[in-house]
Amino acid sequence: MGTDSGAIPQNDLREFIAAVEKRGELAHVRDAHWDKELGAVTEVLYRQKVEKSPMLLFDQIPDYPKGYRCAYGMFGSPYRLALALGMQPALADNRKEMLDYFRKQIRKAFKRVPPKIVKDGPVLQNVMRDGQVDMLKFPVPVHHEEDGGRYIGTACGVVTRDPDSGRINVGTYRDQVKGGDLCASYITNGKQGRIQRDKYLQAGKACPVVIIVGADPITYLAGGFTMLDAMPEYEWAGGLMDRPMELIEGELTGLPFPARSEIVMEGEISASETTLEGPFGEWHGYYAGGAQKEPLIRIRRIYHRDNPILTCAASQKPPHSHLFERCFLRSAALLDALEGAGIPDVRGAWLHQAGAGRTFCAVSIKQRYFGHSTQVGLVASQVASVGYVSRWIVVVDDDIDPTDIHDVIWAMGTRCDPKTRTTLLDHCWSSRIDTVVTDKSLPYNSRMVIDACRPYERLATFPKVCESSPELAAKVRRKYPELFR
Ligand SMILES: Cc1cc2nc3c(=O)[nH]c(=O)nc-3n(C[C@H](O)[C@H](O)[C@H](O)COP(=O)(O)O)c2cc1C
Repeated sequence: MGTDSGAIPQNDLREFIAAVEKRGELAHVRDAHWDKELGAVTEVLYRQKVEKSPMLLFDQIPDYPKGYRCAYGMFGSPYRLALALGMQPALADNRKEMLDYFRKQIRKAFKRVPPKIVKDGPVLQNVMRDGQVDMLKFPVPVHHEEDGGRYIGTACGVVTRDPDSGRINVGTYRDQVKGGDLCASYITNGKQGRIQRDKYLQAGKACPVVIIVGADPITYLAGGFTMLDAMPEYEWAGGLMDRPMELIEGELTGLPFPARSEIVMEGEISASETTLEGPFGEWHGYYAGGAQKEPLIRIRRIYHRDNPILTCAASQKPPHSHLFERCFLRSAALLDALEGAGIPDVRGAWLHQAGAGRTFCAVSIKQRYFGHSTQVGLVASQVASVGYVSRWIVVVDDDIDPTDIHDVIWAMGTRCDPKTRTTLLDHCWSSRIDTVVTDKSLPYNSRMVIDACRPYERLATFPKVCESSPELAAKVRRKYPELFR
């Protein structure tokens, strides 16, 4: 990809891990237990080091053969995400440049490169069929102390096919093991995989499904990224890679999965049987969803590579190990959506880790007309890529860095009059796992748009900011270089 970038996304997880190790951002951890220890090690490390934490590769997990590994925090640093997306590592030093570059590549990806169906690949090195199927042959973790069980799918891709249009969807939806060949997936209302699944179930038919654990970085990132309905994830991924994804079709369902995946499970979501799913430590840092009945999934095939790597994403109270990539991808999608809505002079956007990548969003603009900041705030509060369980949307002027929480709070404290410059919206898209939703059958929430821009009519007269001019700042930097090193 990207002749201007000179970097190429990796073909599979193993190539990615090798590149991360070369850079010195991989930590090998041995002898951590699948029962809560993998999740705890990851949480404690990320709370301490946040985006400076390494990727973690756990091996020699008690009860499991050496070589059966679990990976956490694949894209938890700017460098690793840049690497996965095929960017030059230097770009990782500047979030705005990274976003600008990626958005150019997204547009390129919109060319869509259709996948190529192949007959063989490393994922077929081992096949379990029917009576042999056992998900617990892998070191499936209990991620958090209060989780309802072991989750094989967290950093995964769930593949379904729309029964009407045939569109193949890949979405990241968690999957709890309920027996050697039984599991349950939690797919929120409004997600494409849920809409597709429910079309089968409401017609009384089982829904064919494939669950990928340990996909190549681009397919994994595509699964967790809200695409336009018209954009199939595999074609988006092919566009970003600049070559067709090589996919194998499942023996039973014909659903396609990347030939170089680590573990792939194939089966059916039942139209008649359910099982309790959850509780699970959610992305916002609570066990808010509790346990609820979800359709039972019966797995009838498992394909896996030798010495497979189970990719994991254990959410906790933020910051945590897979938030950086979510903040980044959603910020990029938000900027695209605002531009697509025809709004001029949007300069930057950032979904903050403290808001778990959803609940706190800042957008900066160069104000051009009366009502510009209101327009940006209202649109940003609803677009598909960030509208789900959103809460606080802050619009700031272009002298404010939206990625810098100090800058944003300073603008809120000095440029926004809460009585006249905030807008409350009710009955917005939320989820039963939202902490403020008390009636789980009514998953709405409210949200606030905070206009922290200087009022347009006072742009010329608003008090001047007290900070050194760029010239004076540069002069003192030159004079005392050792002080600023
Ligand atoms: C690590 C990770 C875990 C996720 N877990 C879930 C989940 O359990 N259920 C869910 O509905 N969405 C979950 N999501 C969010 C969806 O994957 C995301 O909204 C994606 O866009 C859904 O795909 P879709 O747009 O094709 O529906 C998760 C995302 C990530 C990155």
